[in-house]
Amino acid sequence: MAQTAFTLALSLFSGGSAAVSSHSSPPSPVVSSSYFSPPFTFLRLPPTISSFPVTLLFVVNVREALEYNFEAMFQVPVQLRAKPANRKKLPDRYLLIATSGGLNQQRTGIIDAVVAAYILNATLVIPRLDQQSYWKDTSCFAEIFDVNWFISYLSRDVEIIKELPPKGGKAWIPRTIRVPRKCDPTCYETRVLPVLNRTQAVELTKFDYRLSNRLDTELQKLRCRVNYHALRFTDPILKMGKLLVERMKMKAKYFIALHLRFEPDMLAFSGCYYGGGDKERAELGAIRKRWKTLHASNPEKVRRNGKCPLTPEEVGLILRALGFGSDVHIYVASGDVYGGEESLAPLKGLFPNFHSKQTIATKEELAQFSSFSGRMAALDYIVCDETDVFVANNNGNMARMLAGRRRYFGHKPTIRPNARKLYKLFLDRNNMTWEEFSSRVRTYQIGFMGEPNEMKPGKGEFHENPDSCLCQARGIETIEEKNRKDAVEMSDEYQSIEDPDWIDVDYLYKIEEFMSD
Ligand SMILES: *[C@@H]1O[C@H](CO)[C@@H](O)[C@H](O)[C@H]1NC(C)=O
Ligand SMILES: *[C@@H]1O[C@H](CO)[C@@H](O)[C@H](O)[C@H]1NC(C)=O
Ligand SMILES: *[C@@H]1O[C@H](CO)[C@@H](O)[C@H](O)[C@H]1NC(C)=O
Repeated sequence: MAQTAFTLALSLFSGGSAAVSSHSSPPSPVVSSSYFSPPFTFLRLPPTISSFPVTLLFVVNVREALEYNFEAMFQVPVQLRAKPANRKKLPDRYLLIATSGGLNQQRTGIIDAVVAAYILNATLVIPRLDQQSYWKDTSCFAEIFDVNWFISYLSRDVEIIKELPPKGGKAWIPRTIRVPRKCDPTCYETRVLPVLNRTQAVELTKFDYRLSNRLDTELQKLRCRVNYHALRFTDPILKMGKLLVERMKMKAKYFIALHLRFEPDMLAFSGCYYGGGDKERAELGAIRKRWKTLHASNPEKVRRNGKCPLTPEEVGLILRALGFGSDVHIYVASGDVYGGEESLAPLKGLFPNFHSKQTIATKEELAQFSSFSGRMAALDYIVCDETDVFVANNNGNMARMLAGRRRYFGHKPTIRPNARKLYKLFLDRNNMTWEEFSSRVRTYQIGFMGEPNEMKPGKGEFHENPDSCLCQARGIETIEEKNRKDAVEMSDEYQSIEDPDWIDVDYLYKIEEFMSD
């Protein structure tokens, strides 16, 4: 199936490229070449002078062209459709969930909650969102997600109700328990079921990634139904998100969305050091005190392990090295960046067409969202989902969630930094020419560009690699696989390209868990 999609992509591309080259403009002086050269391309394309690397666009074109038949093309929703017989439930078994963390961490919890209810044959009560986390958002589920759609979409799988019914005419206080991370079905049956049998209502607390990464295909497909189909933002959020996307498209036919996770909490927790001297050490050190269990930090080691978010300047340099010219428009999704304007300045220097929700929408338009971090994050989520190319400076929850989503809905490119490799490159940066730098960046980024088949089935966390819900091309060497092989042969010195072992899920979840304490 993926092979079919690819063939289609090939044939469509020749038609689609005209549109791209019409967008051409002279390459910027700093950038040596403004397109990927083989083997970094998905396909070996004739070079086109464009400030937006063409190779990153064709998938998007294909998706647009085939939108009307998109479901058939990727087969996904068809395979995912629940059989009516799927739904099983016992009377008087209610599962409640209190989620934890920021929007995307909570999304993980909601997805896993539905599957947990399915495993337990329980009726799910609409999850309670985390209002106490670092992000301090008082929104409830129905203020962020379309609750009726959620209930009806999943009605063949799990019965979902809005509130726990009263018991004997009185409010019913459920028993609370916490299950370990990545609990598997047996774990639910041994830890939760006995309590559920006794008390009929159980609330699972701090609920985020509480279900095993590896599950039967049937359960993984349920995860996809929840994540990609049942969870839909409310109309006001969707409408505003659409408006933001339209405003960006008015500025440029193609734009990049960058998720810049560079807020003080993240930097403090990760223990990274960004060269700001005593001032930075004092500021981040003060925030670090929030987590009593943190070890003394070893910034050098953390960075070497690829666990430090890239600085705004580093992301800018990488994008330029990958061929994005200075005229490309960037939408930046982020909270309050550490160092403010001062840390953003180098990125704005590299990409003067710099936008955010606050610059493309008015205060009035944002009024119903701006004091709710979850709703603001939802707006960014929509823009990052709709963009031609999505880039993250980190490997956190939102980056992973969107990478998976973009993979599921047609392999739209998602660029994530190969931070472990790039770290050394940045150390030597002043000791090499721009050509050498950009050529190394391209090499290190192979396998980190969101290409089809970039991640082997079972690799990574399920929400970033929802392979059970995608068709796999088997026995056929796809063009991009061939290119990748060439690339690996050519660059033996950069071992481990085949195996981008860059995700430290526990570490990242720990960050958010501590932050929401
Ligand atoms: C749920 O229901 C199915 C089908 O009726 C049954 O096979 C399974 O054992 C039940 N599981 C639990 C945890 O009750
Ligand atoms: C829970 O209750 C069901 C049905 O009443 C029963 O079949 C099952 O063995 C019970 N399980 C536990 C762990 O108590
Ligand atoms: C820069 O490169 C030269 C030649 O490769 C090397 O001798 C020198 O030590 C390098 N300097 C730094 C600061 O890395």
